[in-house]
Amino acid sequence: MIDTRYMAVSPGAVIPEALPEFRIYVRSAEGKYILWALEGKKVGADQLGKLTEGGLSEVFVDIKDQFKYEQYLETNLGSILENKFASSDQKATIFSNVSANVVKNAFETSLGLGVMGKDVIQRTQSMVKNSLIFISESKSLQALAKMIGHDYQTYEHATKVLWLMVSFLNNNPDILEKIQPGFQEEEVEHKKEVIRLCGVGAILHDIGKAFVAKEILHKDDPLTDVEWEIMKRHPLNGLAMLLDTDLPVFVKQGVLQHHEDFNGGGYPMGLEGFNINILARVLRIIDTFDAMTSRRPYKDPFTPSKTVQIMCGKPAGSVVTEDPNEDVRDQGMRRCFDEDLLRKFILFLGDVKLDR
Ligand SMILES: [Fe+2]
Repeated sequence: MIDTRYMAVSPGAVIPEALPEFRIYVRSAEGKYILWALEGKKVGADQLGKLTEGGLSEVFVDIKDQFKYEQYLETNLGSILENKFASSDQKATIFSNVSANVVKNAFETSLGLGVMGKDVIQRTQSMVKNSLIFISESKSLQALAKMIGHDYQTYEHATKVLWLMVSFLNNNPDILEKIQPGFQEEEVEHKKEVIRLCGVGAILHDIGKAFVAKEILHKDDPLTDVEWEIMKRHPLNGLAMLLDTDLPVFVKQGVLQHHEDFNGGGYPMGLEGFNINILARVLRIIDTFDAMTSRRPYKDPFTPSKTVQIMCGKPAGSVVTEDPNEDVRDQGMRRCFDEDLLRKFILFLGDVKLDR
């Protein structure tokens, strides 16, 4: 019988030699919860090996220790994502949960202050840093593919945009050079740092939505003109929140300009073409791709290949389709994107075989 006093967690979260401040239990065949590790005790690799050899898919933590458990995950994220006893799926779940928690915290705490606190930005930066190796593994993309088609939820969306951004830039070092010109390709550490900063921009790109009422964010019906104007302020709000942080200008511009369209029809400033920061031009593509492949209040998700077709097709002013599965909001999209970057993104999708 399931005891609601315990929560199931992934055994992949338990890493050798770490010191969790909570007890870990296993469940017997009779449904009894048996103490497996005491708080503060190091868990040895042998002990962990025995646990995972049997194919155990979950261990348990007392529900009252949930906060401690979440803190432990975040603090040890780098080691957990390198844990050889954990599967890619287990790591992906842990990464998504930690990332969602960090973004949620950033949204909630920033709302009161109007700016992003130093500790919040620090937490976000270290979460992205600790995730980079895992996100860069090709196996992690299989786990990402399983998240395609989920509901469009702010925190999960931010995680997927981060994931796609890091993978895409790893595959396209020439874009990195354009984002921050002047470094040589062999400068591995510098390259990693630029990718990390782009990842921070990706996960925070919609942080300005912290100021948009939930009723507007989650509205099923079309927005009124006033609601739409409020919504369109989120890139400006995002910049205002990040202005005093030590993030570089290209990240702040990326956040500010991620809804600018290549043909000048976007917002908030109506910038055009190469006047739009290159990180923002990449974000415009990835943000759209993830939104369209997610289940939105007014729309079933499109498959990645259908999404690409729509993103490439029908320039503005062309004949509106009669296909009942297409939404007018998704038409005439080609004008929004830098075509060279879009081409590269489509090649990337083909390489990583996200459409499964
Ligand atoms: Fe946005």
